[in-house]
Amino acid sequence: MPSLVVVGMQFGDESKGAVVDYLAEWADLVVRYNGGSNAGHTVVAGGHKYKLHLVPSGSVRGKLGVIGAGVAFDPEVFLEEVQALRERGIEPNLVVSLKASLVMPYHKEIDSLIHGGKLGTTKRGVGPAYQDKMSRITGLKVMDLYDRRRVKDVLSLKAEELEFRGIVKDRDSFIQEMMSLIERWAQALEDYVGDDTLLVNEALSQGKFVVFEGAQGTMLDVDHGTYPFVTSSNPITGGVCTGVGLSPKLIDRILGVSKAYTTRVGAGPFPTELKGDLAAVIRDRGGEYGTTTGRPRRVGWLDLPMLRYSKLVNGVDYLAIRKLDVLAGLERVKVAVSYEIDGQEYRIAPPYVRELEKAEPVYEELDGWEEGDWEEVVRGGWEAQPKGALKYLEFLERELETPVLITGWGPQRELTIPSPRLKDVLREMGVITQ
Ligand code: GDP
Ligand code: IMO
Ligand code: MG
Repeated sequence: MPSLVVVGMQFGDESKGAVVDYLAEWADLVVRYNGGSNAGHTVVAGGHKYKLHLVPSGSVRGKLGVIGAGVAFDPEVFLEEVQALRERGIEPNLVVSLKASLVMPYHKEIDSLIHGGKLGTTKRGVGPAYQDKMSRITGLKVMDLYDRRRVKDVLSLKAEELEFRGIVKDRDSFIQEMMSLIERWAQALEDYVGDDTLLVNEALSQGKFVVFEGAQGTMLDVDHGTYPFVTSSNPITGGVCTGVGLSPKLIDRILGVSKAYTTRVGAGPFPTELKGDLAAVIRDRGGEYGTTTGRPRRVGWLDLPMLRYSKLVNGVDYLAIRKLDVLAGLERVKVAVSYEIDGQEYRIAPPYVRELEKAEPVYEELDGWEEGDWEEVVRGGWEAQPKGALKYLEFLERELETPVLITGWGPQRELTIPSPRLKDVLREMGVITQ
């Protein structure tokens, strides 16, 4: 039953897409379990840059992709993404859970009007769609595409609410417009809809290797992140169980993904945030602009209290540390090893906004590493990484008591370096035999 969760340990955009694509070489299935098209996962391979919002990143390698029940599913974005892949010669093999929640056009409107400003959301309608899911009477699921009576009941209620908010002027034409959309989606999605729970559980019982692809990151988790500056789903490992319908006993290993520094897009506390020239340099070198919205990302030093919290919440077994190339050329790099809040030391981040806003990071300075020819470094393998970077990685392993399995030296698939331990792990899991 080999299964591996790839989970973001920071505020999202850790490079989960690149890591999932790398591991998909061995995977049979790649499964998205949370979030919606607010996610933007980048895979750079074969001279193409793929920006995926709903389609699991394993699809670029032609692996079966599953969109689980926990996902806020926007058919419009999904169909566009499938089309874009086809235009690049990839015919994706995909299953969309009948239990996934539908994102409707009015969710996006509400997101833009109400949530967008204050929280800095991606305006993809994800929060309002999950709100309707939890309210039950106004939520629509993929299965409802084939139950027009229920759709009509839900739309009548929504029409009333949206008229009250001034978003809908004429209830009848609103319902008609939405019904024709539902009709179109029902047809277009017919070949994709299925039972994610049975599919994934069966695959695991047949010994297939399943990779779970988290969207967003731990600090954006609606229950465990920096509430209210969070997303509306559970990106953490626990989200796999609820988002797919899977026993926690079937989760084998957990790989936490982090950049070599920290970024955050949107509002909310960020203890190690940098301002000024250095921030601009890192942002430019790292191409730190949102994959979904194009917004510049806030940048800062690596934050170990946050990563320790993230390790705890997710049960992280191994680390993937990406974007080491971006810090190359800096003489010294800083890492926050603890916080001071009201005169007290914290080794593990408290996820409360008021505390985090007061947190004074305590930094340790390490030697940096020089620029290099990363293709050559990758050819040389783990030990060919710059000395300063190897020391940086050893420092992280020691502080977090977690081995690093994968590093990243550029966006391209070829610029990933596996640690010698990766093969051992895949062997222990029964994914490879030698
Ligand atoms: P995700 O949301 O976690 O999948 O991450 P994103 O794709 O939104 O953001 C990560 C960005 O960094 C993308 O533009 C990737 O192509 C890029 N990237 C991934 N790994 C590396 C790396 O090791 N070095 C550099 N320079 N870029 C990387
Ligand atoms: P991936 O999967 C980074 C952020 C938004 C905003 C907050 C709430 O690419 O890592 P939402 O639209 O979810 O209601 O916005 O969460 N956010 C992300 N930040 N990466 C993401 O996804 C994100 N998805 C949402 O910027 O601050
Ligand atoms: Mg992203």
